[in-house]
Amino acid sequence: MIKKFNVELEGQLEFYEQYLKVVNPNLTYEDIFRNNSDGILNANLLEFKLNITDLNACLFQAIKYLSSMRIKGEPIPSNILLVSLNTATIYLYKSEDYLDEIEKVYIGGASRKNVGFFAKDYVSKLEYGENQSDEFSLIQLLRENKYTKIHIDENCIVGWAEKYYRENPQARKADFIGDTTGKVRIIGEIREPDKFKEYIYPYAGKNNVRFQYLMDRLNDALQKKNLGAFYTPEPYVDKSIELVRQAIARVPQGNDYIILDRCAGTGNLEKRLTDEELSHCIVSTIEYYEYKVLLELLGSKVRYIIPPTEKEDTFNMGLVRGADALSEEYINNPVIKQYIDNPKCTVILFENPPYVETTSLEHQRTKQSVTSSAWKNTFVVKEMKKEVKGAVSNDLSNAFIWSAFKYYLRQPTDSYVVYSPVKYWKSQHLINKEFLSGFAFNRRHFHTHIDACIMCALWSNVDANIEAIKITGYDIMANNRLSLPVELSIVRVHELFSTKYYNKENFEEFSYDGILTGLNGLEADSDVKCRIKPLYSKEMLGYLVADSVGFDNPDAKSSLLVAGRYNGNGCYLKRDDYLSKLPMFCASRYILYNREWTERARIMKSADGADKFFNDVKNGKLNQFLLKCLVFTCFEMQNHMRTFIGSDNRFYRNELCLDITNGETIASKDLKKIKIGEKENELFEMWKALLKWAKKTKNYNPTFTYGVYQIFAELNTFTRDEETGENKPDYPELNGALKSLKQKVKEYYITEIVPTLFEYEFLK
Ligand SMILES: C[S@@+](CC[C@H](N)C(=O)[O-])C[C@H]1O[C@@H](n2cnc3c(N)ncnc32)[C@H](O)[C@@H]1O
Repeated sequence: MIKKFNVELEGQLEFYEQYLKVVNPNLTYEDIFRNNSDGILNANLLEFKLNITDLNACLFQAIKYLSSMRIKGEPIPSNILLVSLNTATIYLYKSEDYLDEIEKVYIGGASRKNVGFFAKDYVSKLEYGENQSDEFSLIQLLRENKYTKIHIDENCIVGWAEKYYRENPQARKADFIGDTTGKVRIIGEIREPDKFKEYIYPYAGKNNVRFQYLMDRLNDALQKKNLGAFYTPEPYVDKSIELVRQAIARVPQGNDYIILDRCAGTGNLEKRLTDEELSHCIVSTIEYYEYKVLLELLGSKVRYIIPPTEKEDTFNMGLVRGADALSEEYINNPVIKQYIDNPKCTVILFENPPYVETTSLEHQRTKQSVTSSAWKNTFVVKEMKKEVKGAVSNDLSNAFIWSAFKYYLRQPTDSYVVYSPVKYWKSQHLINKEFLSGFAFNRRHFHTHIDACIMCALWSNVDANIEAIKITGYDIMANNRLSLPVELSIVRVHELFSTKYYNKENFEEFSYDGILTGLNGLEADSDVKCRIKPLYSKEMLGYLVADSVGFDNPDAKSSLLVAGRYNGNGCYLKRDDYLSKLPMFCASRYILYNREWTERARIMKSADGADKFFNDVKNGKLNQFLLKCLVFTCFEMQNHMRTFIGSDNRFYRNELCLDITNGETIASKDLKKIKIGEKENELFEMWKALLKWAKKTKNYNPTFTYGVYQIFAELNTFTRDEETGENKPDYPELNGALKSLKQKVKEYYITEIVPTLFEYEFLK
């Protein structure tokens, strides 16, 4: 008797429950349910239907799963089993018979648009419900571990590279990619598979030109760290070539000119120049396999490539000897020097320098410490450190920019067309030159996942102190075309919050026997390294952090807490003088509510408007604005002030919230002075509802004073639904109220707070 199911998932689970016992009881559902498929069990891809009505469509769906597995670098199971649950029938197909289809790329979900595909006959049909020998065959199949080999191409090579480096952490790019031309001839995994010999066919291409746009993504982890390679997409290349042509137009009559790109990668920036323009180019790159592709593609077209031919010792542990643009040897390269020393030659640099910022969170997350970066010990960086101080030298691209002006540009008609986030000019003041023209591009399209602004600027080699520039921004649309332009302004930043606005600890009475908190608003763990002393004072309201000019890692750089934060970088707030500090907190939340690519890495925090601000605070002009900042602060989730009893036995009360169950808070008292408009009224009403639900929760403590964050973190609990695996809120009303408040707070911030933050240059 064949069991009938109403729900596919039910039948599927029962199938696995039965057969896993005899195939491999150690396998879990997590091992099986991969790639959004119905299951991969050993070398079998299974596709379940209650009743299979269209074998063609069902097989095509399975093929699409296999296609996506190939792209991700996952071995392709040799068997495809289409299971018709209610008839207990399995149709067996072999994936090798469909290799051509598997090696195509499909857009959209695997279960969509599957009609119109014609399958060959199935290899066998198993009636596993009623026929014992068929069931035996099924079990044998499910135990099989044979894979279908696939071909490596540009669609899947990144996936396989990632798998290779994941499974062989010591491996270098040469071990994976290799090539069969030139002097080195390290064959590499893709040409002579060893680890993947069961999964891939040897790649037959002699060189790696086919992967020219992906060479950055094929780097091993160490190279990713040191080379900062993020390739430029074609639509942006075309725009930046407009700037190069402007630079060429500035070449004085009778002059020769060179276009130097010291970090050309595989030559993306140059590929779309005309042959005449190329005949002026000098290119090089440090990474060996990029260099090989560069040589192959542009070697015969450019004026010079460094080195012009591959020598016995060119390959130097994955790098190209003589091509490290930051080395002394490179600065003294005689061929480049001959042009630099020639007054009748104009020098144009056209570069997208590698981008590695060792202090950035991105970098630290991958545990790459400041000291481990090889480029930090190069000649150029050491020379730069003699002239520019501070964090500026933590940035690899800054070494390129600084050295461009230092060693290469000499005449006023020389130019630099350079890609880089604007901070080198805006806040770090690395260069003070005349700006001629520029674009803003979205960093996301440079093989990253971050929406942020990258400037491509044309600088002339003329000293100038400019305060503001205008650039035209373009995103890239789904059709790989440029979006409509947006005009963006970039204004320089001079003063930090910390120097102008942070309070000095001028409490009349205080002691250092208080507590310190962590980012989550609770007392910090006793084993963390504390960078400030645990100050306690009756006059102290809390601690505010609004750190760094940019918006990298905004949550760690922006805090409001009931006591000092263990790692400092903020200032204590005084109970009688906290309001004028709140705009700093408000400004530090900007990026959360303005996530467009044009904002991040363009807009920054500044204290440049401090004189005007202090003046207008004094004369009362900003009274209402400061109260609006207080409204926002009370409702913003990053206000992590909580009420609790500290290990010093003191009662810490959150006073920047509107819970007056246990008496007025400082905020509730001060907000009596606000002129309540429609927007405030709406927020206050929402808060009342929220607090009402909060008080009905199990964890509610009637002696506490709750802000939004503490309600979210302690009262709005969730329970895992065992059936669906989802976390469900225990108090849907409270959960809903928190969500709606969030939306309203955002609207309030954008209309009531942001314009004034810009007016007083808290945001700039
Ligand atoms: C951001 S990529 C740009 C590549 C290419 N120009 C483009 O725009 O697509 C930076 C390149 O600089 C190379 N590079 C990194 N450090 C270098 C160094 N010290 N000297 C020369 N090239 C370097 C990397 O290998 C990478 O190809």
